[in-house]
Parts: sequence; C-alpha cells; structure tokens
Amino acid sequence: MNDNSRYLLCRLDELADPGSKGNMVTRGDAVQNIFVVRRNDRVYGYINSCPHTGGPLDWVPDQFLSLDKRHIQCATHAALFRLDDGVCVAGPCAGDRLTAIPLQVESGNVYLLAGRPGHEG
Ligand code: FES
Repeated sequence: MNDNSRYLLCRLDELADPGSKGNMVTRGDAVQNIFVVRRNDRVYGYINSCPHTGGPLDWVPDQFLSLDKRHIQCATHAALFRLDDGVCVAGPCAGDRLTAIPLQVESGNVYLLAGRPGHEG
C-alpha cells in the first residue's frame, strides 16, 4: 500500500538475510535512489550516495554488501559502512556516514516513511 505517509518498498522475505536491495522512489517532484539492507529481522535504509564522492555505492543492482556481508561496501573505493547506522569504519571517508531514511516493517512489508531523508518522518 502506498499513501501519503508511507511507500511500499518490498516484502521482507524478498531480502536475503543478510542482504540488500536498491530502489528508486518518487517523492513529490524528486526521484531518490535508495537502498535497504537486512540483518535478521531488522532493515535499515540509506540514500545510495557515498559520502566520499557522492556516487552510488552498488556495482551491480541490489549488491551493496561486502563479500562477508558484515558491512555495506562502496563499489568505487571500497569504503565499509556499518549496516545499523551507516557509519564508515574503513576507507577514504572513515567517520562519515550514509544518509539514513526512515523505514517501517509491518506485516512482512518494508515501507519508506514520509519525511526528509535522515529525519524521522
Ligand atoms: S566513492 Fe565511495 S569510497 Fe570513494
């Protein structure tokens, strides 16, 4: 279900555990490139933009995780980010963080909540 307060991104069982999935969403006139990552039954969402150069993190669609699947990994210069808060723990932008987006998981569905990225909506 999509309404003014939330936007259906995917079903939880579409995400591997751990796993990731990219998505383009339209909010107002803006199109946003976002992605979600899953670990156990927790899902985290971020804008698909590396704080190092602003480029996208994925090198193939829906692949945002490192080989060991413990971190989000930027495809360009291999920066590593924690799944749960998007903080860069290794690489050229260490200490910076991804821009979080507010999500809700309900009845097996993953929703993007209304509101500006990085703010509670
Ligand atoms: S663009 Fe992501 S680490 Fe350089």
